[in-house]
Amino acid sequence: MKTYSMMALNDKLDSRFDELVENCMKSGAIDLNLYQEYDVKRGLRDSNGSGVLTGLTEISDVCAYNIVEGVKEPAQGRLYYQGYDVKDLVGTDIDKRYSFEQATYLLLFGMLPDREQLKTFSDIICSLQELSGQFVRDVIMKAPSANLMNALQKSVLTLYSYDANPDDISVSNVLRQSLQLVSKLPMIAVYSFYAYRHFHDFASLVIKPTKNEYSTAENILHMLRPDGEFTKLEARVLDAALVLHAEHGGGNNSTFTNHVVTSSGTDTYSAVAASIASLKGPRHGGANLKVLQMMRDMKENCGDPSDREHVRAYLQKILNREAFDGLGLIYGMGHAVYTLSDPREVILKGYAEKLAKAKGREDDYAFYLLVEEEAADLLMHRSHVMKPICANVDFYSGFIYSMLGIPEELFTPLFAISRISGWSAHRLEELVNKGKIIRPAYKYVGEHRDFPKED
Ligand code: COA
Repeated sequence: MKTYSMMALNDKLDSRFDELVENCMKSGAIDLNLYQEYDVKRGLRDSNGSGVLTGLTEISDVCAYNIVEGVKEPAQGRLYYQGYDVKDLVGTDIDKRYSFEQATYLLLFGMLPDREQLKTFSDIICSLQELSGQFVRDVIMKAPSANLMNALQKSVLTLYSYDANPDDISVSNVLRQSLQLVSKLPMIAVYSFYAYRHFHDFASLVIKPTKNEYSTAENILHMLRPDGEFTKLEARVLDAALVLHAEHGGGNNSTFTNHVVTSSGTDTYSAVAASIASLKGPRHGGANLKVLQMMRDMKENCGDPSDREHVRAYLQKILNREAFDGLGLIYGMGHAVYTLSDPREVILKGYAEKLAKAKGREDDYAFYLLVEEEAADLLMHRSHVMKPICANVDFYSGFIYSMLGIPEELFTPLFAISRISGWSAHRLEELVNKGKIIRPAYKYVGEHRDFPKED
């Protein structure tokens, strides 16, 4: 399919393009010493790597340290949604079906729903789970994107045209739009996946409506699988993964993006499309796929994947930039905030073990455990690492999704399907508090020049 030929440069411009690239590189390069001179907090981080304080929130709390006599000490990670430990929210009951809906209710309204409120809320989500045939045909089926995050952005932006009241940023209207997005994103993601596979790989086009009696997690599995079938454990594990990805404070890249864009007074669809754009990046939501690829590469190339020494030697090669993608990163390890543990990883690991047993993938699970142990040890012993390094949420999520038969193209969209709850809660918090437009400063470090006189 010659989809992108119209984006190629014509021959004339092509020949001058290298020169333009060179000029671009030269004119964009800023002397790194200037950042220190002007005390610029690059990446909005202080010299210890901690985030600069830019806002207040009651939505969630990410805890990674204890303060002992005024000194920060590494601690087991904790994550609280509206004050409740996410561990309790996910729970361990295998029969629980609606924890993502419960978490979304909690994030949006600040309280846990009782049984009846949860039922009503789940019914509302279900009732909004529809996309007109016109939308599917004119938006999702047209120009399908290889990266489904771009497909999500396109669809979310186009929902603006299908909304009779798109620009009203009153709390009631934004709440309505947010619930619509929570409900519709799973369908948009799954349909976009099948549209791309159909037009690109000539695979069957599977467009299945959701079922009213199903939870979000159940509907995702139902829509994805041609036979629509799934086990209780599979749905439960996906439901737990959705809860654990739903929210992570105001400072993470995509949520902060939402605050920035919302503060300008723009519409919900624009703000959410911007957050999806941010989440797409491999330094943010794209890491779970990288973990899966890295583990596959290691299994094929490390020698014996059950041998501790072989695994350790290969991980060392990765760190030395001699293996995998050559970037020196062990994906799924480390976190900007957490130190001794990432609570989401700890919970997901438990579910990964259960699912691996059910699927006969115990050997793979043992391989993950071995890599986690050796990677943490290797990273901790690097001279310049000042804090403990633990596995993060992405370490087991890709493995779990692969055991659920979820295609890799949907890994990052699944993150968006879940994080829409957190983005919506933060957008509403920004609007309720009528924040000022977010407008930091950039210092000009170029020179002023005389404009050349015309001959
Ligand atoms: N592999 C190799 N080196 C790592 C690492 C990893 N997984 N995790 C941290 N480090 C290095 C950092 O690059 C940094 O080195 P530097 O001082 O030379 O820059 C040092 O250890 C200390 O890092 P730290 O301050 O703990 O974290 P950070 O905020 O710089 O980076 C991440 C946080 C998440 C970007 C980083 O851990 C990472 O790139 N991990 C792999 C990708 C990943 O799994 N992302 C998903 C995050 S949820």
